[in-house]
Amino acid sequence: MTTPVLEARDVTMRFGGLTAVRSVDFTVNSGEIVGLIGPNGAGKTTFFNCLTGLYVPTEGTVSYKGTVLPPKPHLVTKAGIARTFQNIRLFANMTVLENVLVGRHTRTKEGLWSALLRGPGFKKAEKASEERAMELLEFIGLADKRDHLARNLPYGEQRKLEIARALASEPGLLLLDEPTAGMNPQETRATEDLVFAIRDKGIAVLLIEHDMRFVFNLCDRVAVLVQGEKLVEGTSDVVQADERVVAAYLGEPFQGEPGEAEATEVTEAGTGTSGDAPSTTSTKGEAK
Ligand SMILES: Nc1ncnc2c1ncn2[C@@H]1O[C@H](COP(=O)(O)OP(=O)(O)OP(=O)(O)O)[C@@H](O)[C@H]1O
Ligand SMILES: [Mg+2]
Repeated sequence: MTTPVLEARDVTMRFGGLTAVRSVDFTVNSGEIVGLIGPNGAGKTTFFNCLTGLYVPTEGTVSYKGTVLPPKPHLVTKAGIARTFQNIRLFANMTVLENVLVGRHTRTKEGLWSALLRGPGFKKAEKASEERAMELLEFIGLADKRDHLARNLPYGEQRKLEIARALASEPGLLLLDEPTAGMNPQETRATEDLVFAIRDKGIAVLLIEHDMRFVFNLCDRVAVLVQGEKLVEGTSDVVQADERVVAAYLGEPFQGEPGEAEATEVTEAGTGTSGDAPSTTSTKGEAK
């Protein structure tokens, strides 16, 4: 029995004359890891921003567990959706532990400012929250760096810390925007295990990634966004086998290099995996 955690209906985001996201319907069910892929500039991050209230969609609605969300970031977080950013956003001059504690502010009585200014109320709440924060640091493997300044962490660990901070708001859905960008292959592998472990804790995951192996290894379902539209959606097998996906990457008009490398990855990941019969597929738009 699958229950939708996230339901985006007919989401459109226009910036002046540019339609970055066009009439996208999108569902994430409980227990799922879903991937969102597409060439650079396809509208993936914009879609995340619409889901999390950073942008107010021009049209459409976003629901979390059956309730339409107001497009306000703190209310979205409070409702149960947490995210990380393509460009890491940490409090650089705070410690690892403090960054996670700040992530807990939606779940404590103390507000964000109290957390940032560390008043007496925060000190008290901090004590109660610290245990949970340390648990999360253990979980992602940064417990031994609790007192390091965030800015001194290697890049890969900063990405992990951002995940821990997102988890600190006790979400039911976690959105990851390019979690392995800048990581070496070992770190990427470890992140794969981490995402599975997060899912196993009962948190649904929606992730944007350019690393195709990572996506196809992890995801129960993958949606492909091209020029703001959902072109293909289905299991990894279905998406890998769809020639429009490869065409979309190869047809990318700028930055041909990364697009081409990804198209090759899609093709290679597709060959040699003779997988099961495709279960779901819905398509929209035309092949180019
Ligand atoms: N705030 C904004 N104002 C105007 N245009 C924007 C804004 N944010 C995004 N865009 C445009 O919307 C389009 C989609 O951008 P977006 O960042 O969502 O793509 P993406 O799929 O995340 O790409 P990448 O893989 O490179 O991160 C781009 O043409 C971008 O320039
Ligand atoms: Mg992006």
